[in-house]
Amino acid sequence: MKHFTKIAASAAVLAMSSVVVQAEEFRLGLITPPPHIWTKAAEAFGTELNEASDGAHSVSVFPARQLGNEAEMLQQLQTGALDMAFMTVAEVSNRAPELGAFYAPYLADDIGHAGRILRSDTAISMLEPLPGQVGVVGLGYGMAGLRQIVSRGEVSSAEDLSGLKLRITPFTPILDFYNAVGAAPTPMPLPAVYDALANGQVDAIDMDAELIWVLKYYEHADTIVQSDHMMFPMVGLVSAKVWAGLSEEDRAMIAELMAKHVDSTIDAYVENDAKWLEQIEGTGKAYKKVDASFFGDAIEEWNGIWSEKTSSLDALRQTAAETK
Ligand code: BEZ
Repeated sequence: MKHFTKIAASAAVLAMSSVVVQAEEFRLGLITPPPHIWTKAAEAFGTELNEASDGAHSVSVFPARQLGNEAEMLQQLQTGALDMAFMTVAEVSNRAPELGAFYAPYLADDIGHAGRILRSDTAISMLEPLPGQVGVVGLGYGMAGLRQIVSRGEVSSAEDLSGLKLRITPFTPILDFYNAVGAAPTPMPLPAVYDALANGQVDAIDMDAELIWVLKYYEHADTIVQSDHMMFPMVGLVSAKVWAGLSEEDRAMIAELMAKHVDSTIDAYVENDAKWLEQIEGTGKAYKKVDASFFGDAIEEWNGIWSEKTSSLDALRQTAAETK
């Protein structure tokens, strides 16, 4: 509650010129397809908000980039044209580089550890500047597992990634990582990935286990590298303009329910990640399990770059040590 009070206070600063918006039919956008864990969580949030408000509020969920890509949705949140989103922290970190600290390679030992870091006070406190900095209120974290590498060619060492056109989610921390590895990182939004891998537009992709399995990316690959090299957090957002027009009661209800439903995605990944990885391994594709040593000096290089770009790294590492 302390966290939400602080967020409400920062958001209120933005309310000075805003009109009172009594939005009862909220629109929530995301880029993930309808069956995805994030989309289901968004729908469950909408249902519960409707029930909790005795039918006063409803949430229309727009999955699969129906309202635009994440950069466009973030702009819509800033203007108040969009009420809510479940969004990759990756996209938000393009506007709030402090959040780049979450992508420190091997910050989390495993998926459960990633969940504990995301649920920590340190992580939650990193949402506090968002209303003033980005024009959105961050109400809690979700996740999409840890990152793996899927390659059309053989990969037995990091040198094999050298010069490969390797698809990345468009955000700077991962760009810096693969540049340090010596690959040719190729930013590409999620919906373009399947065709790009299938037709050889990219040689490899950076992806999570769920989508490698569910969207069958492995079908167009020779090697899966289970590297678990980064966590991939998501954040539940409300437009700060919209937030400023809500009553205290509505804010409290939305804050509680959105935090609950984005958080539920952490449980879903912790529960299922090992199963997806086993299924991928069971496809008979070359499967290589590696740790930080696979990436050689690239991790130190990333740490050097990002210790200059974010002041949150030390606190997050401390939290990671305390939540092992
Ligand atoms: C991706 O860009 O790889 C991604 C985005 C959203 C959910 C999962 C993965």
